[in-house]
Amino acid sequence: MEDANESVVPEFIFSGLCNSTALQTFLVLPFSVLYLMTVVGNLLVVVLIISDLHLHSPMYFLLANLSFIDFCLSSVTTPKLTTDLLKDNKIISFGGCMSQIVCVHFFAGGEMVLLVTMAYDRYVAICKPLHYSSIMNRQKCLWLVLISWIIGFVHAMSQLAMILELPFCGPRVVDSFFCDIPLVIKLACMDTHILGALINADSGFLATTCFILLLISYTYILLTVRLHSKDGASKALSTCTSHITVVVLFFGPCIFIYLWPLSITWVDKFLAVFYTVITPLLNPAIYTLRNKEIKNAMKRLIRQRLGSRDHF
Ligand SMILES: *[C@@H]1O[C@H](CO)[C@@H](O)[C@H](O)[C@H]1NC(C)=O
Repeated sequence: MEDANESVVPEFIFSGLCNSTALQTFLVLPFSVLYLMTVVGNLLVVVLIISDLHLHSPMYFLLANLSFIDFCLSSVTTPKLTTDLLKDNKIISFGGCMSQIVCVHFFAGGEMVLLVTMAYDRYVAICKPLHYSSIMNRQKCLWLVLISWIIGFVHAMSQLAMILELPFCGPRVVDSFFCDIPLVIKLACMDTHILGALINADSGFLATTCFILLLISYTYILLTVRLHSKDGASKALSTCTSHITVVVLFFGPCIFIYLWPLSITWVDKFLAVFYTVITPLLNPAIYTLRNKEIKNAMKRLIRQRLGSRDHF
């Protein structure tokens, strides 16, 4: 038993956000508030869209799924990050670390593909408005969502397969606040240069493909909107602006972290906080603040709740 355990690292240790204990204690409150807002905001969007019949259209179903993924994505890292701020020993078990890797890649991969399907939905709605209801029916929408989850799953499993058998025997400190693959494979006691390149290529391929597809579809949409500038165009433009903002917020930090040749630790950590903690909060904020339909649905929901209370 003991012999078998020797080559296995039972746990990893996070170095955390920063060195100062005082600053970490101070950060507990803001991070808790951010996480609470992310959970409430995203679940509110999901509940609004599912419960309001006015919002039963492919665009909003996709949006509800996006909010749901954002909720999951932030739940993988933020609660642990926040409670770890209060601890001196930020320990995570080997299994916990592997689950974090799988979940982050599953949800982030799924989100990337979902953003592409949302762009495709807008492309059909704006560039082929007459065929919209026949092209984007309920079933097609369900398939698109399913495909996003499947691609996310396959991507996560491929990442896991590459690191699961690595020998971890030496250092255990992950210089971050969650198990990020490039940092974890550095701890393996073998040369991981080639493996690292493979892992980056895997994520890079998915991210770059999605990003290029997004660029193409939004460029196409914006060009179409400019050509037919009528009344509908400004509304279409405002929807697309929120989509494009979300895309930039999601891909910006990822591209910066993975493609930027110089890695500066605090910049990397700042960006990691940005895309794990802030981005999932910004999505519902951007949509609810800018989208009239969602605002109306919110008003209806509040009125309904107040109305039903009057009966008692
Ligand atoms: C995701 O999209 C599907 C397909 O349109 C929809 O039926 C489902 O309610 C959505 N799920 C969530 C959690 O929003």
